[in-house]
Amino acid sequence: MGMETIGVGVIGLRMGRGHLVGYQQNPRTQIIGVCDPDEALLAQRKDEFGATVASTDYRDLLEIPEIGIVSVASPDYYHAEQAIAAMEAGKDVLCEKPLTLNMEEAKAIIAAVEATGRRFMIGQVCRFAPGFMLAKRLIDRGEIGKLYFVESEYAHSYKHARGIGDWRVDPRREPVIGGGCHAIDLLRWIAGDVAEAHAYANHECLKDWPVNDFSIGIFTFESGVLGKVMVSIGCIRPYTMRSVFYGTEGTIICDNTSSEIQMCSQKNLTGAPAFTTLPVNIANHNVSAEINELVDCILNDKPVATNVYEGAKTVATCMAVVESARTGKSVRPGDLL
Ligand SMILES: NC(=O)c1ccc[n+]([C@@H]2O[C@H](COP(=O)([O-])OP(=O)(O)OC[C@H]3O[C@@H](n4cnc5c(N)ncnc54)[C@H](O)[C@@H]3O)[C@@H](O)[C@H]2O)c1
Repeated sequence: MGMETIGVGVIGLRMGRGHLVGYQQNPRTQIIGVCDPDEALLAQRKDEFGATVASTDYRDLLEIPEIGIVSVASPDYYHAEQAIAAMEAGKDVLCEKPLTLNMEEAKAIIAAVEATGRRFMIGQVCRFAPGFMLAKRLIDRGEIGKLYFVESEYAHSYKHARGIGDWRVDPRREPVIGGGCHAIDLLRWIAGDVAEAHAYANHECLKDWPVNDFSIGIFTFESGVLGKVMVSIGCIRPYTMRSVFYGTEGTIICDNTSSEIQMCSQKNLTGAPAFTTLPVNIANHNVSAEINELVDCILNDKPVATNVYEGAKTVATCMAVVESARTGKSVRPGDLL
């Protein structure tokens, strides 16, 4: 008897191409359906990945009983509608980040997960970046002692990344949520839930965009750790997500664009503090690892760690930064959930 395989459908075929590659590489999944309103792209991806069904309407994929997993990789505005419909049709879902751009839709996805009992993974892919994974392992095993301060910067020039049809250039798509969710989710993964945020923002670089292009937020975490996040989408520099984690016994510097992480640990020191470099692979869009994890959870009946609640808490923390910068007051993400 052959191994059980799970049929797959992918909605949105640009970022979704990374999903298709991941499913193609996983021996337990079979690509069945693809969906995108761009007919030329749809035909191209159908051929490239040997899909049997290609449609411009995602609902056509939901009617196929052989499809067990649906990837939602469409622009953010469609995540809630498509993910909820997929779960209601009995499919497990891998949804691209950010979960949603507002709390109403995040709550609607949570309700659908709870009502349908389907598995749901939010694609916070930085949790699968090798450098960040190594940093987390080192912190969890105490190499830098007790954390007291964490910081991450999401600096990514969007000048030429407006999205097909300029979908990213929209007042609903705050950069702190759309892209900054990577840095905020990383800090939450390392230091836990944020208790309170205070933030400032300005708009000096992308003058034709309807949103602030720079934000800085400071956090108190429930754990007592303090934190800082910076989000810039108008910066003139290559993409970085440089992150620094400070503990009582050491410090780690890492970036998903670097082939090494740096650690300075009291344990290894004989003289003045010095960094040791540890090599890592660069894989800042490691969707394949995400997919392998989801498939393992489905086949072996394990809970998904990057679940809908993690996605929603990250959106709430992003919202708290946006709200604080707008109102000048501190905001507690827990009040938004
Ligand atoms: N994990 C990451 O690091 C990462 C990186 C890039 C994008 N993303 C996310 O992936 C999603 C897609 O972003 P992208 O970079 O591919 O954008 P894109 O603009 O490059 O492509 C969007 C694609 O979606 C299609 N599309 C538009 N409306 C659709 C609909 N209603 N249903 C299905 N498809 C539709 C478009 O035709 C296009 O092919 C977004 O949610 C984005 O935030 C995540």
